[in-house]
Amino acid sequence: MARSSNLAQETASILQHLGVDRRLYQEGIRTVRSPTTGGTIANVQDADAVAMGNVIDNAVHAFKTWRLVPAPRRGELVRLLGEELRAAKDELGRLVMIEAGKIASEGRGEVQEMIDICDFAVGLSRQLYGLTIASERLAHRMMEQWHPLGPIGVITTFNFPVAVWAWNAALAVVCGDTVIWKPSEKTPLTALAVQALVARAVEKFGDAPHGLSAVLIGDRDAATRLTDDPRVPLVSATGSTRMGRTVGPHLAQRFARAILELGGNNAAVVCPSANLELALRAIAFAAIGTAGQRCTTLRRLFVHRHVYAALVERLKQVYATARVGNPLEDDSVLIGPLIDEAAFAAMQATLSEVHALGGKITGGDRCYAERYPTAYYVQPALIEMAEQIGPVMRETFAPLLYVMPYTDFDQVIELHNGVSQGLASSIFSNDVREVEYFLSAAGSDCGIVNVNIGPSGAEIGGAFGGEKETGGGREAGSDAWKNYMRRVTSTINFGSELPLAQGVRFDIG
Ligand code: UN1
Repeated sequence: MARSSNLAQETASILQHLGVDRRLYQEGIRTVRSPTTGGTIANVQDADAVAMGNVIDNAVHAFKTWRLVPAPRRGELVRLLGEELRAAKDELGRLVMIEAGKIASEGRGEVQEMIDICDFAVGLSRQLYGLTIASERLAHRMMEQWHPLGPIGVITTFNFPVAVWAWNAALAVVCGDTVIWKPSEKTPLTALAVQALVARAVEKFGDAPHGLSAVLIGDRDAATRLTDDPRVPLVSATGSTRMGRTVGPHLAQRFARAILELGGNNAAVVCPSANLELALRAIAFAAIGTAGQRCTTLRRLFVHRHVYAALVERLKQVYATARVGNPLEDDSVLIGPLIDEAAFAAMQATLSEVHALGGKITGGDRCYAERYPTAYYVQPALIEMAEQIGPVMRETFAPLLYVMPYTDFDQVIELHNGVSQGLASSIFSNDVREVEYFLSAAGSDCGIVNVNIGPSGAEIGGAFGGEKETGGGREAGSDAWKNYMRRVTSTINFGSELPLAQGVRFDIG
């Protein structure tokens, strides 16, 4: 009890220091718990129907002026936000630890990811380039322009409570859009904190319209409100494939754009020529880091028979010694808690299924249940499977790694691609033919394909997202910004004739 009230106090003091209005986290009826203790740390208020309506109205209104602000000037607001994030990195990182249960380095890393995308977006604000296209007609020119799209809905999940918003929001804001954020109901506090930092940046900026960026606290109803409002032309949603199956059709029904970043079932292939020590480190971070709660977490590991025994033995040592515990109390912890009891129950259910199928399980037990009866710490589980069947085919959001031996390279590629998700993948090999094959059109079918690094921990510079049931969306770097703008194709006639395309004649006499 004392422990959780201390945590509530620490949470309140961070929120207060970051400029969040006390009423927003003390006067609501929605309970926010820290997965580190299971204790209540705050109470937030859900937006009611009127408040939701107001938020969307304000975003629509703000868009009308924000779209006219020159893009490099819009970039200045994102630059100021990046500065606020730099100044608040420790505190916001700590809040991520408290609210999502991440270890310190990952909490701070998440804020760094926000800073990185802000920097990227600032540069982008001077690079929203369109093409000039050669016209087939005499004295004509064709060109593309990219115009702001409208108010953008961003639905995020607990596991990256702030970075994924930043991937979307930093781009949307330089693209001239306004942003409405529906954070996970498990992690509203970090969203409120970020919104307070946005308010600081806006104040320094001077003349940004009211409603440019807003947070909508709530559950599924708030998300549905965003996905069904015809004034919101794009919703970027991160979460389970189940969630995507609801959100996607709602958006399709009204021809709105969707960026869907859904479940992954990410695999790595360890080839005979691999540097095994390097592979071991990469696998450990990707499989047990963030307690297995990244969409990019490594869940399936295919190891060539020649190196299987050696690698699995080393992995078992790592699994047995990697420290599980409360990251707020112990800096040496590598694996924090699962987000809640439901996550624990899902992990245990999957382990029972695996057991029934003859999988050989190392680890997977609950830890510290007496000390933290309502927090869910687990030993990561290494599961040796003979085949890719049953639960191996789906994503269980927990530190479960299925290890399977392989002999034939072509066959392992089939198995690698033989699941319905397609987010991130890796190959560990020093054989150029294997590597290039994996990267080729016939290789990995994922959106992220890595060589000699794990599938998780992407930088923001590349487009992030995956294929098949992962949803097909792309966020963050490269040209993902184009999702947040509407493309205009213009043909300009600077002659005095009117030639028609394709040589069509239409003489009206
Ligand atoms: C997620 O888990 O939804 O590549 C995002 C990574 C992080 C982002 C993960 N940069 O693991």
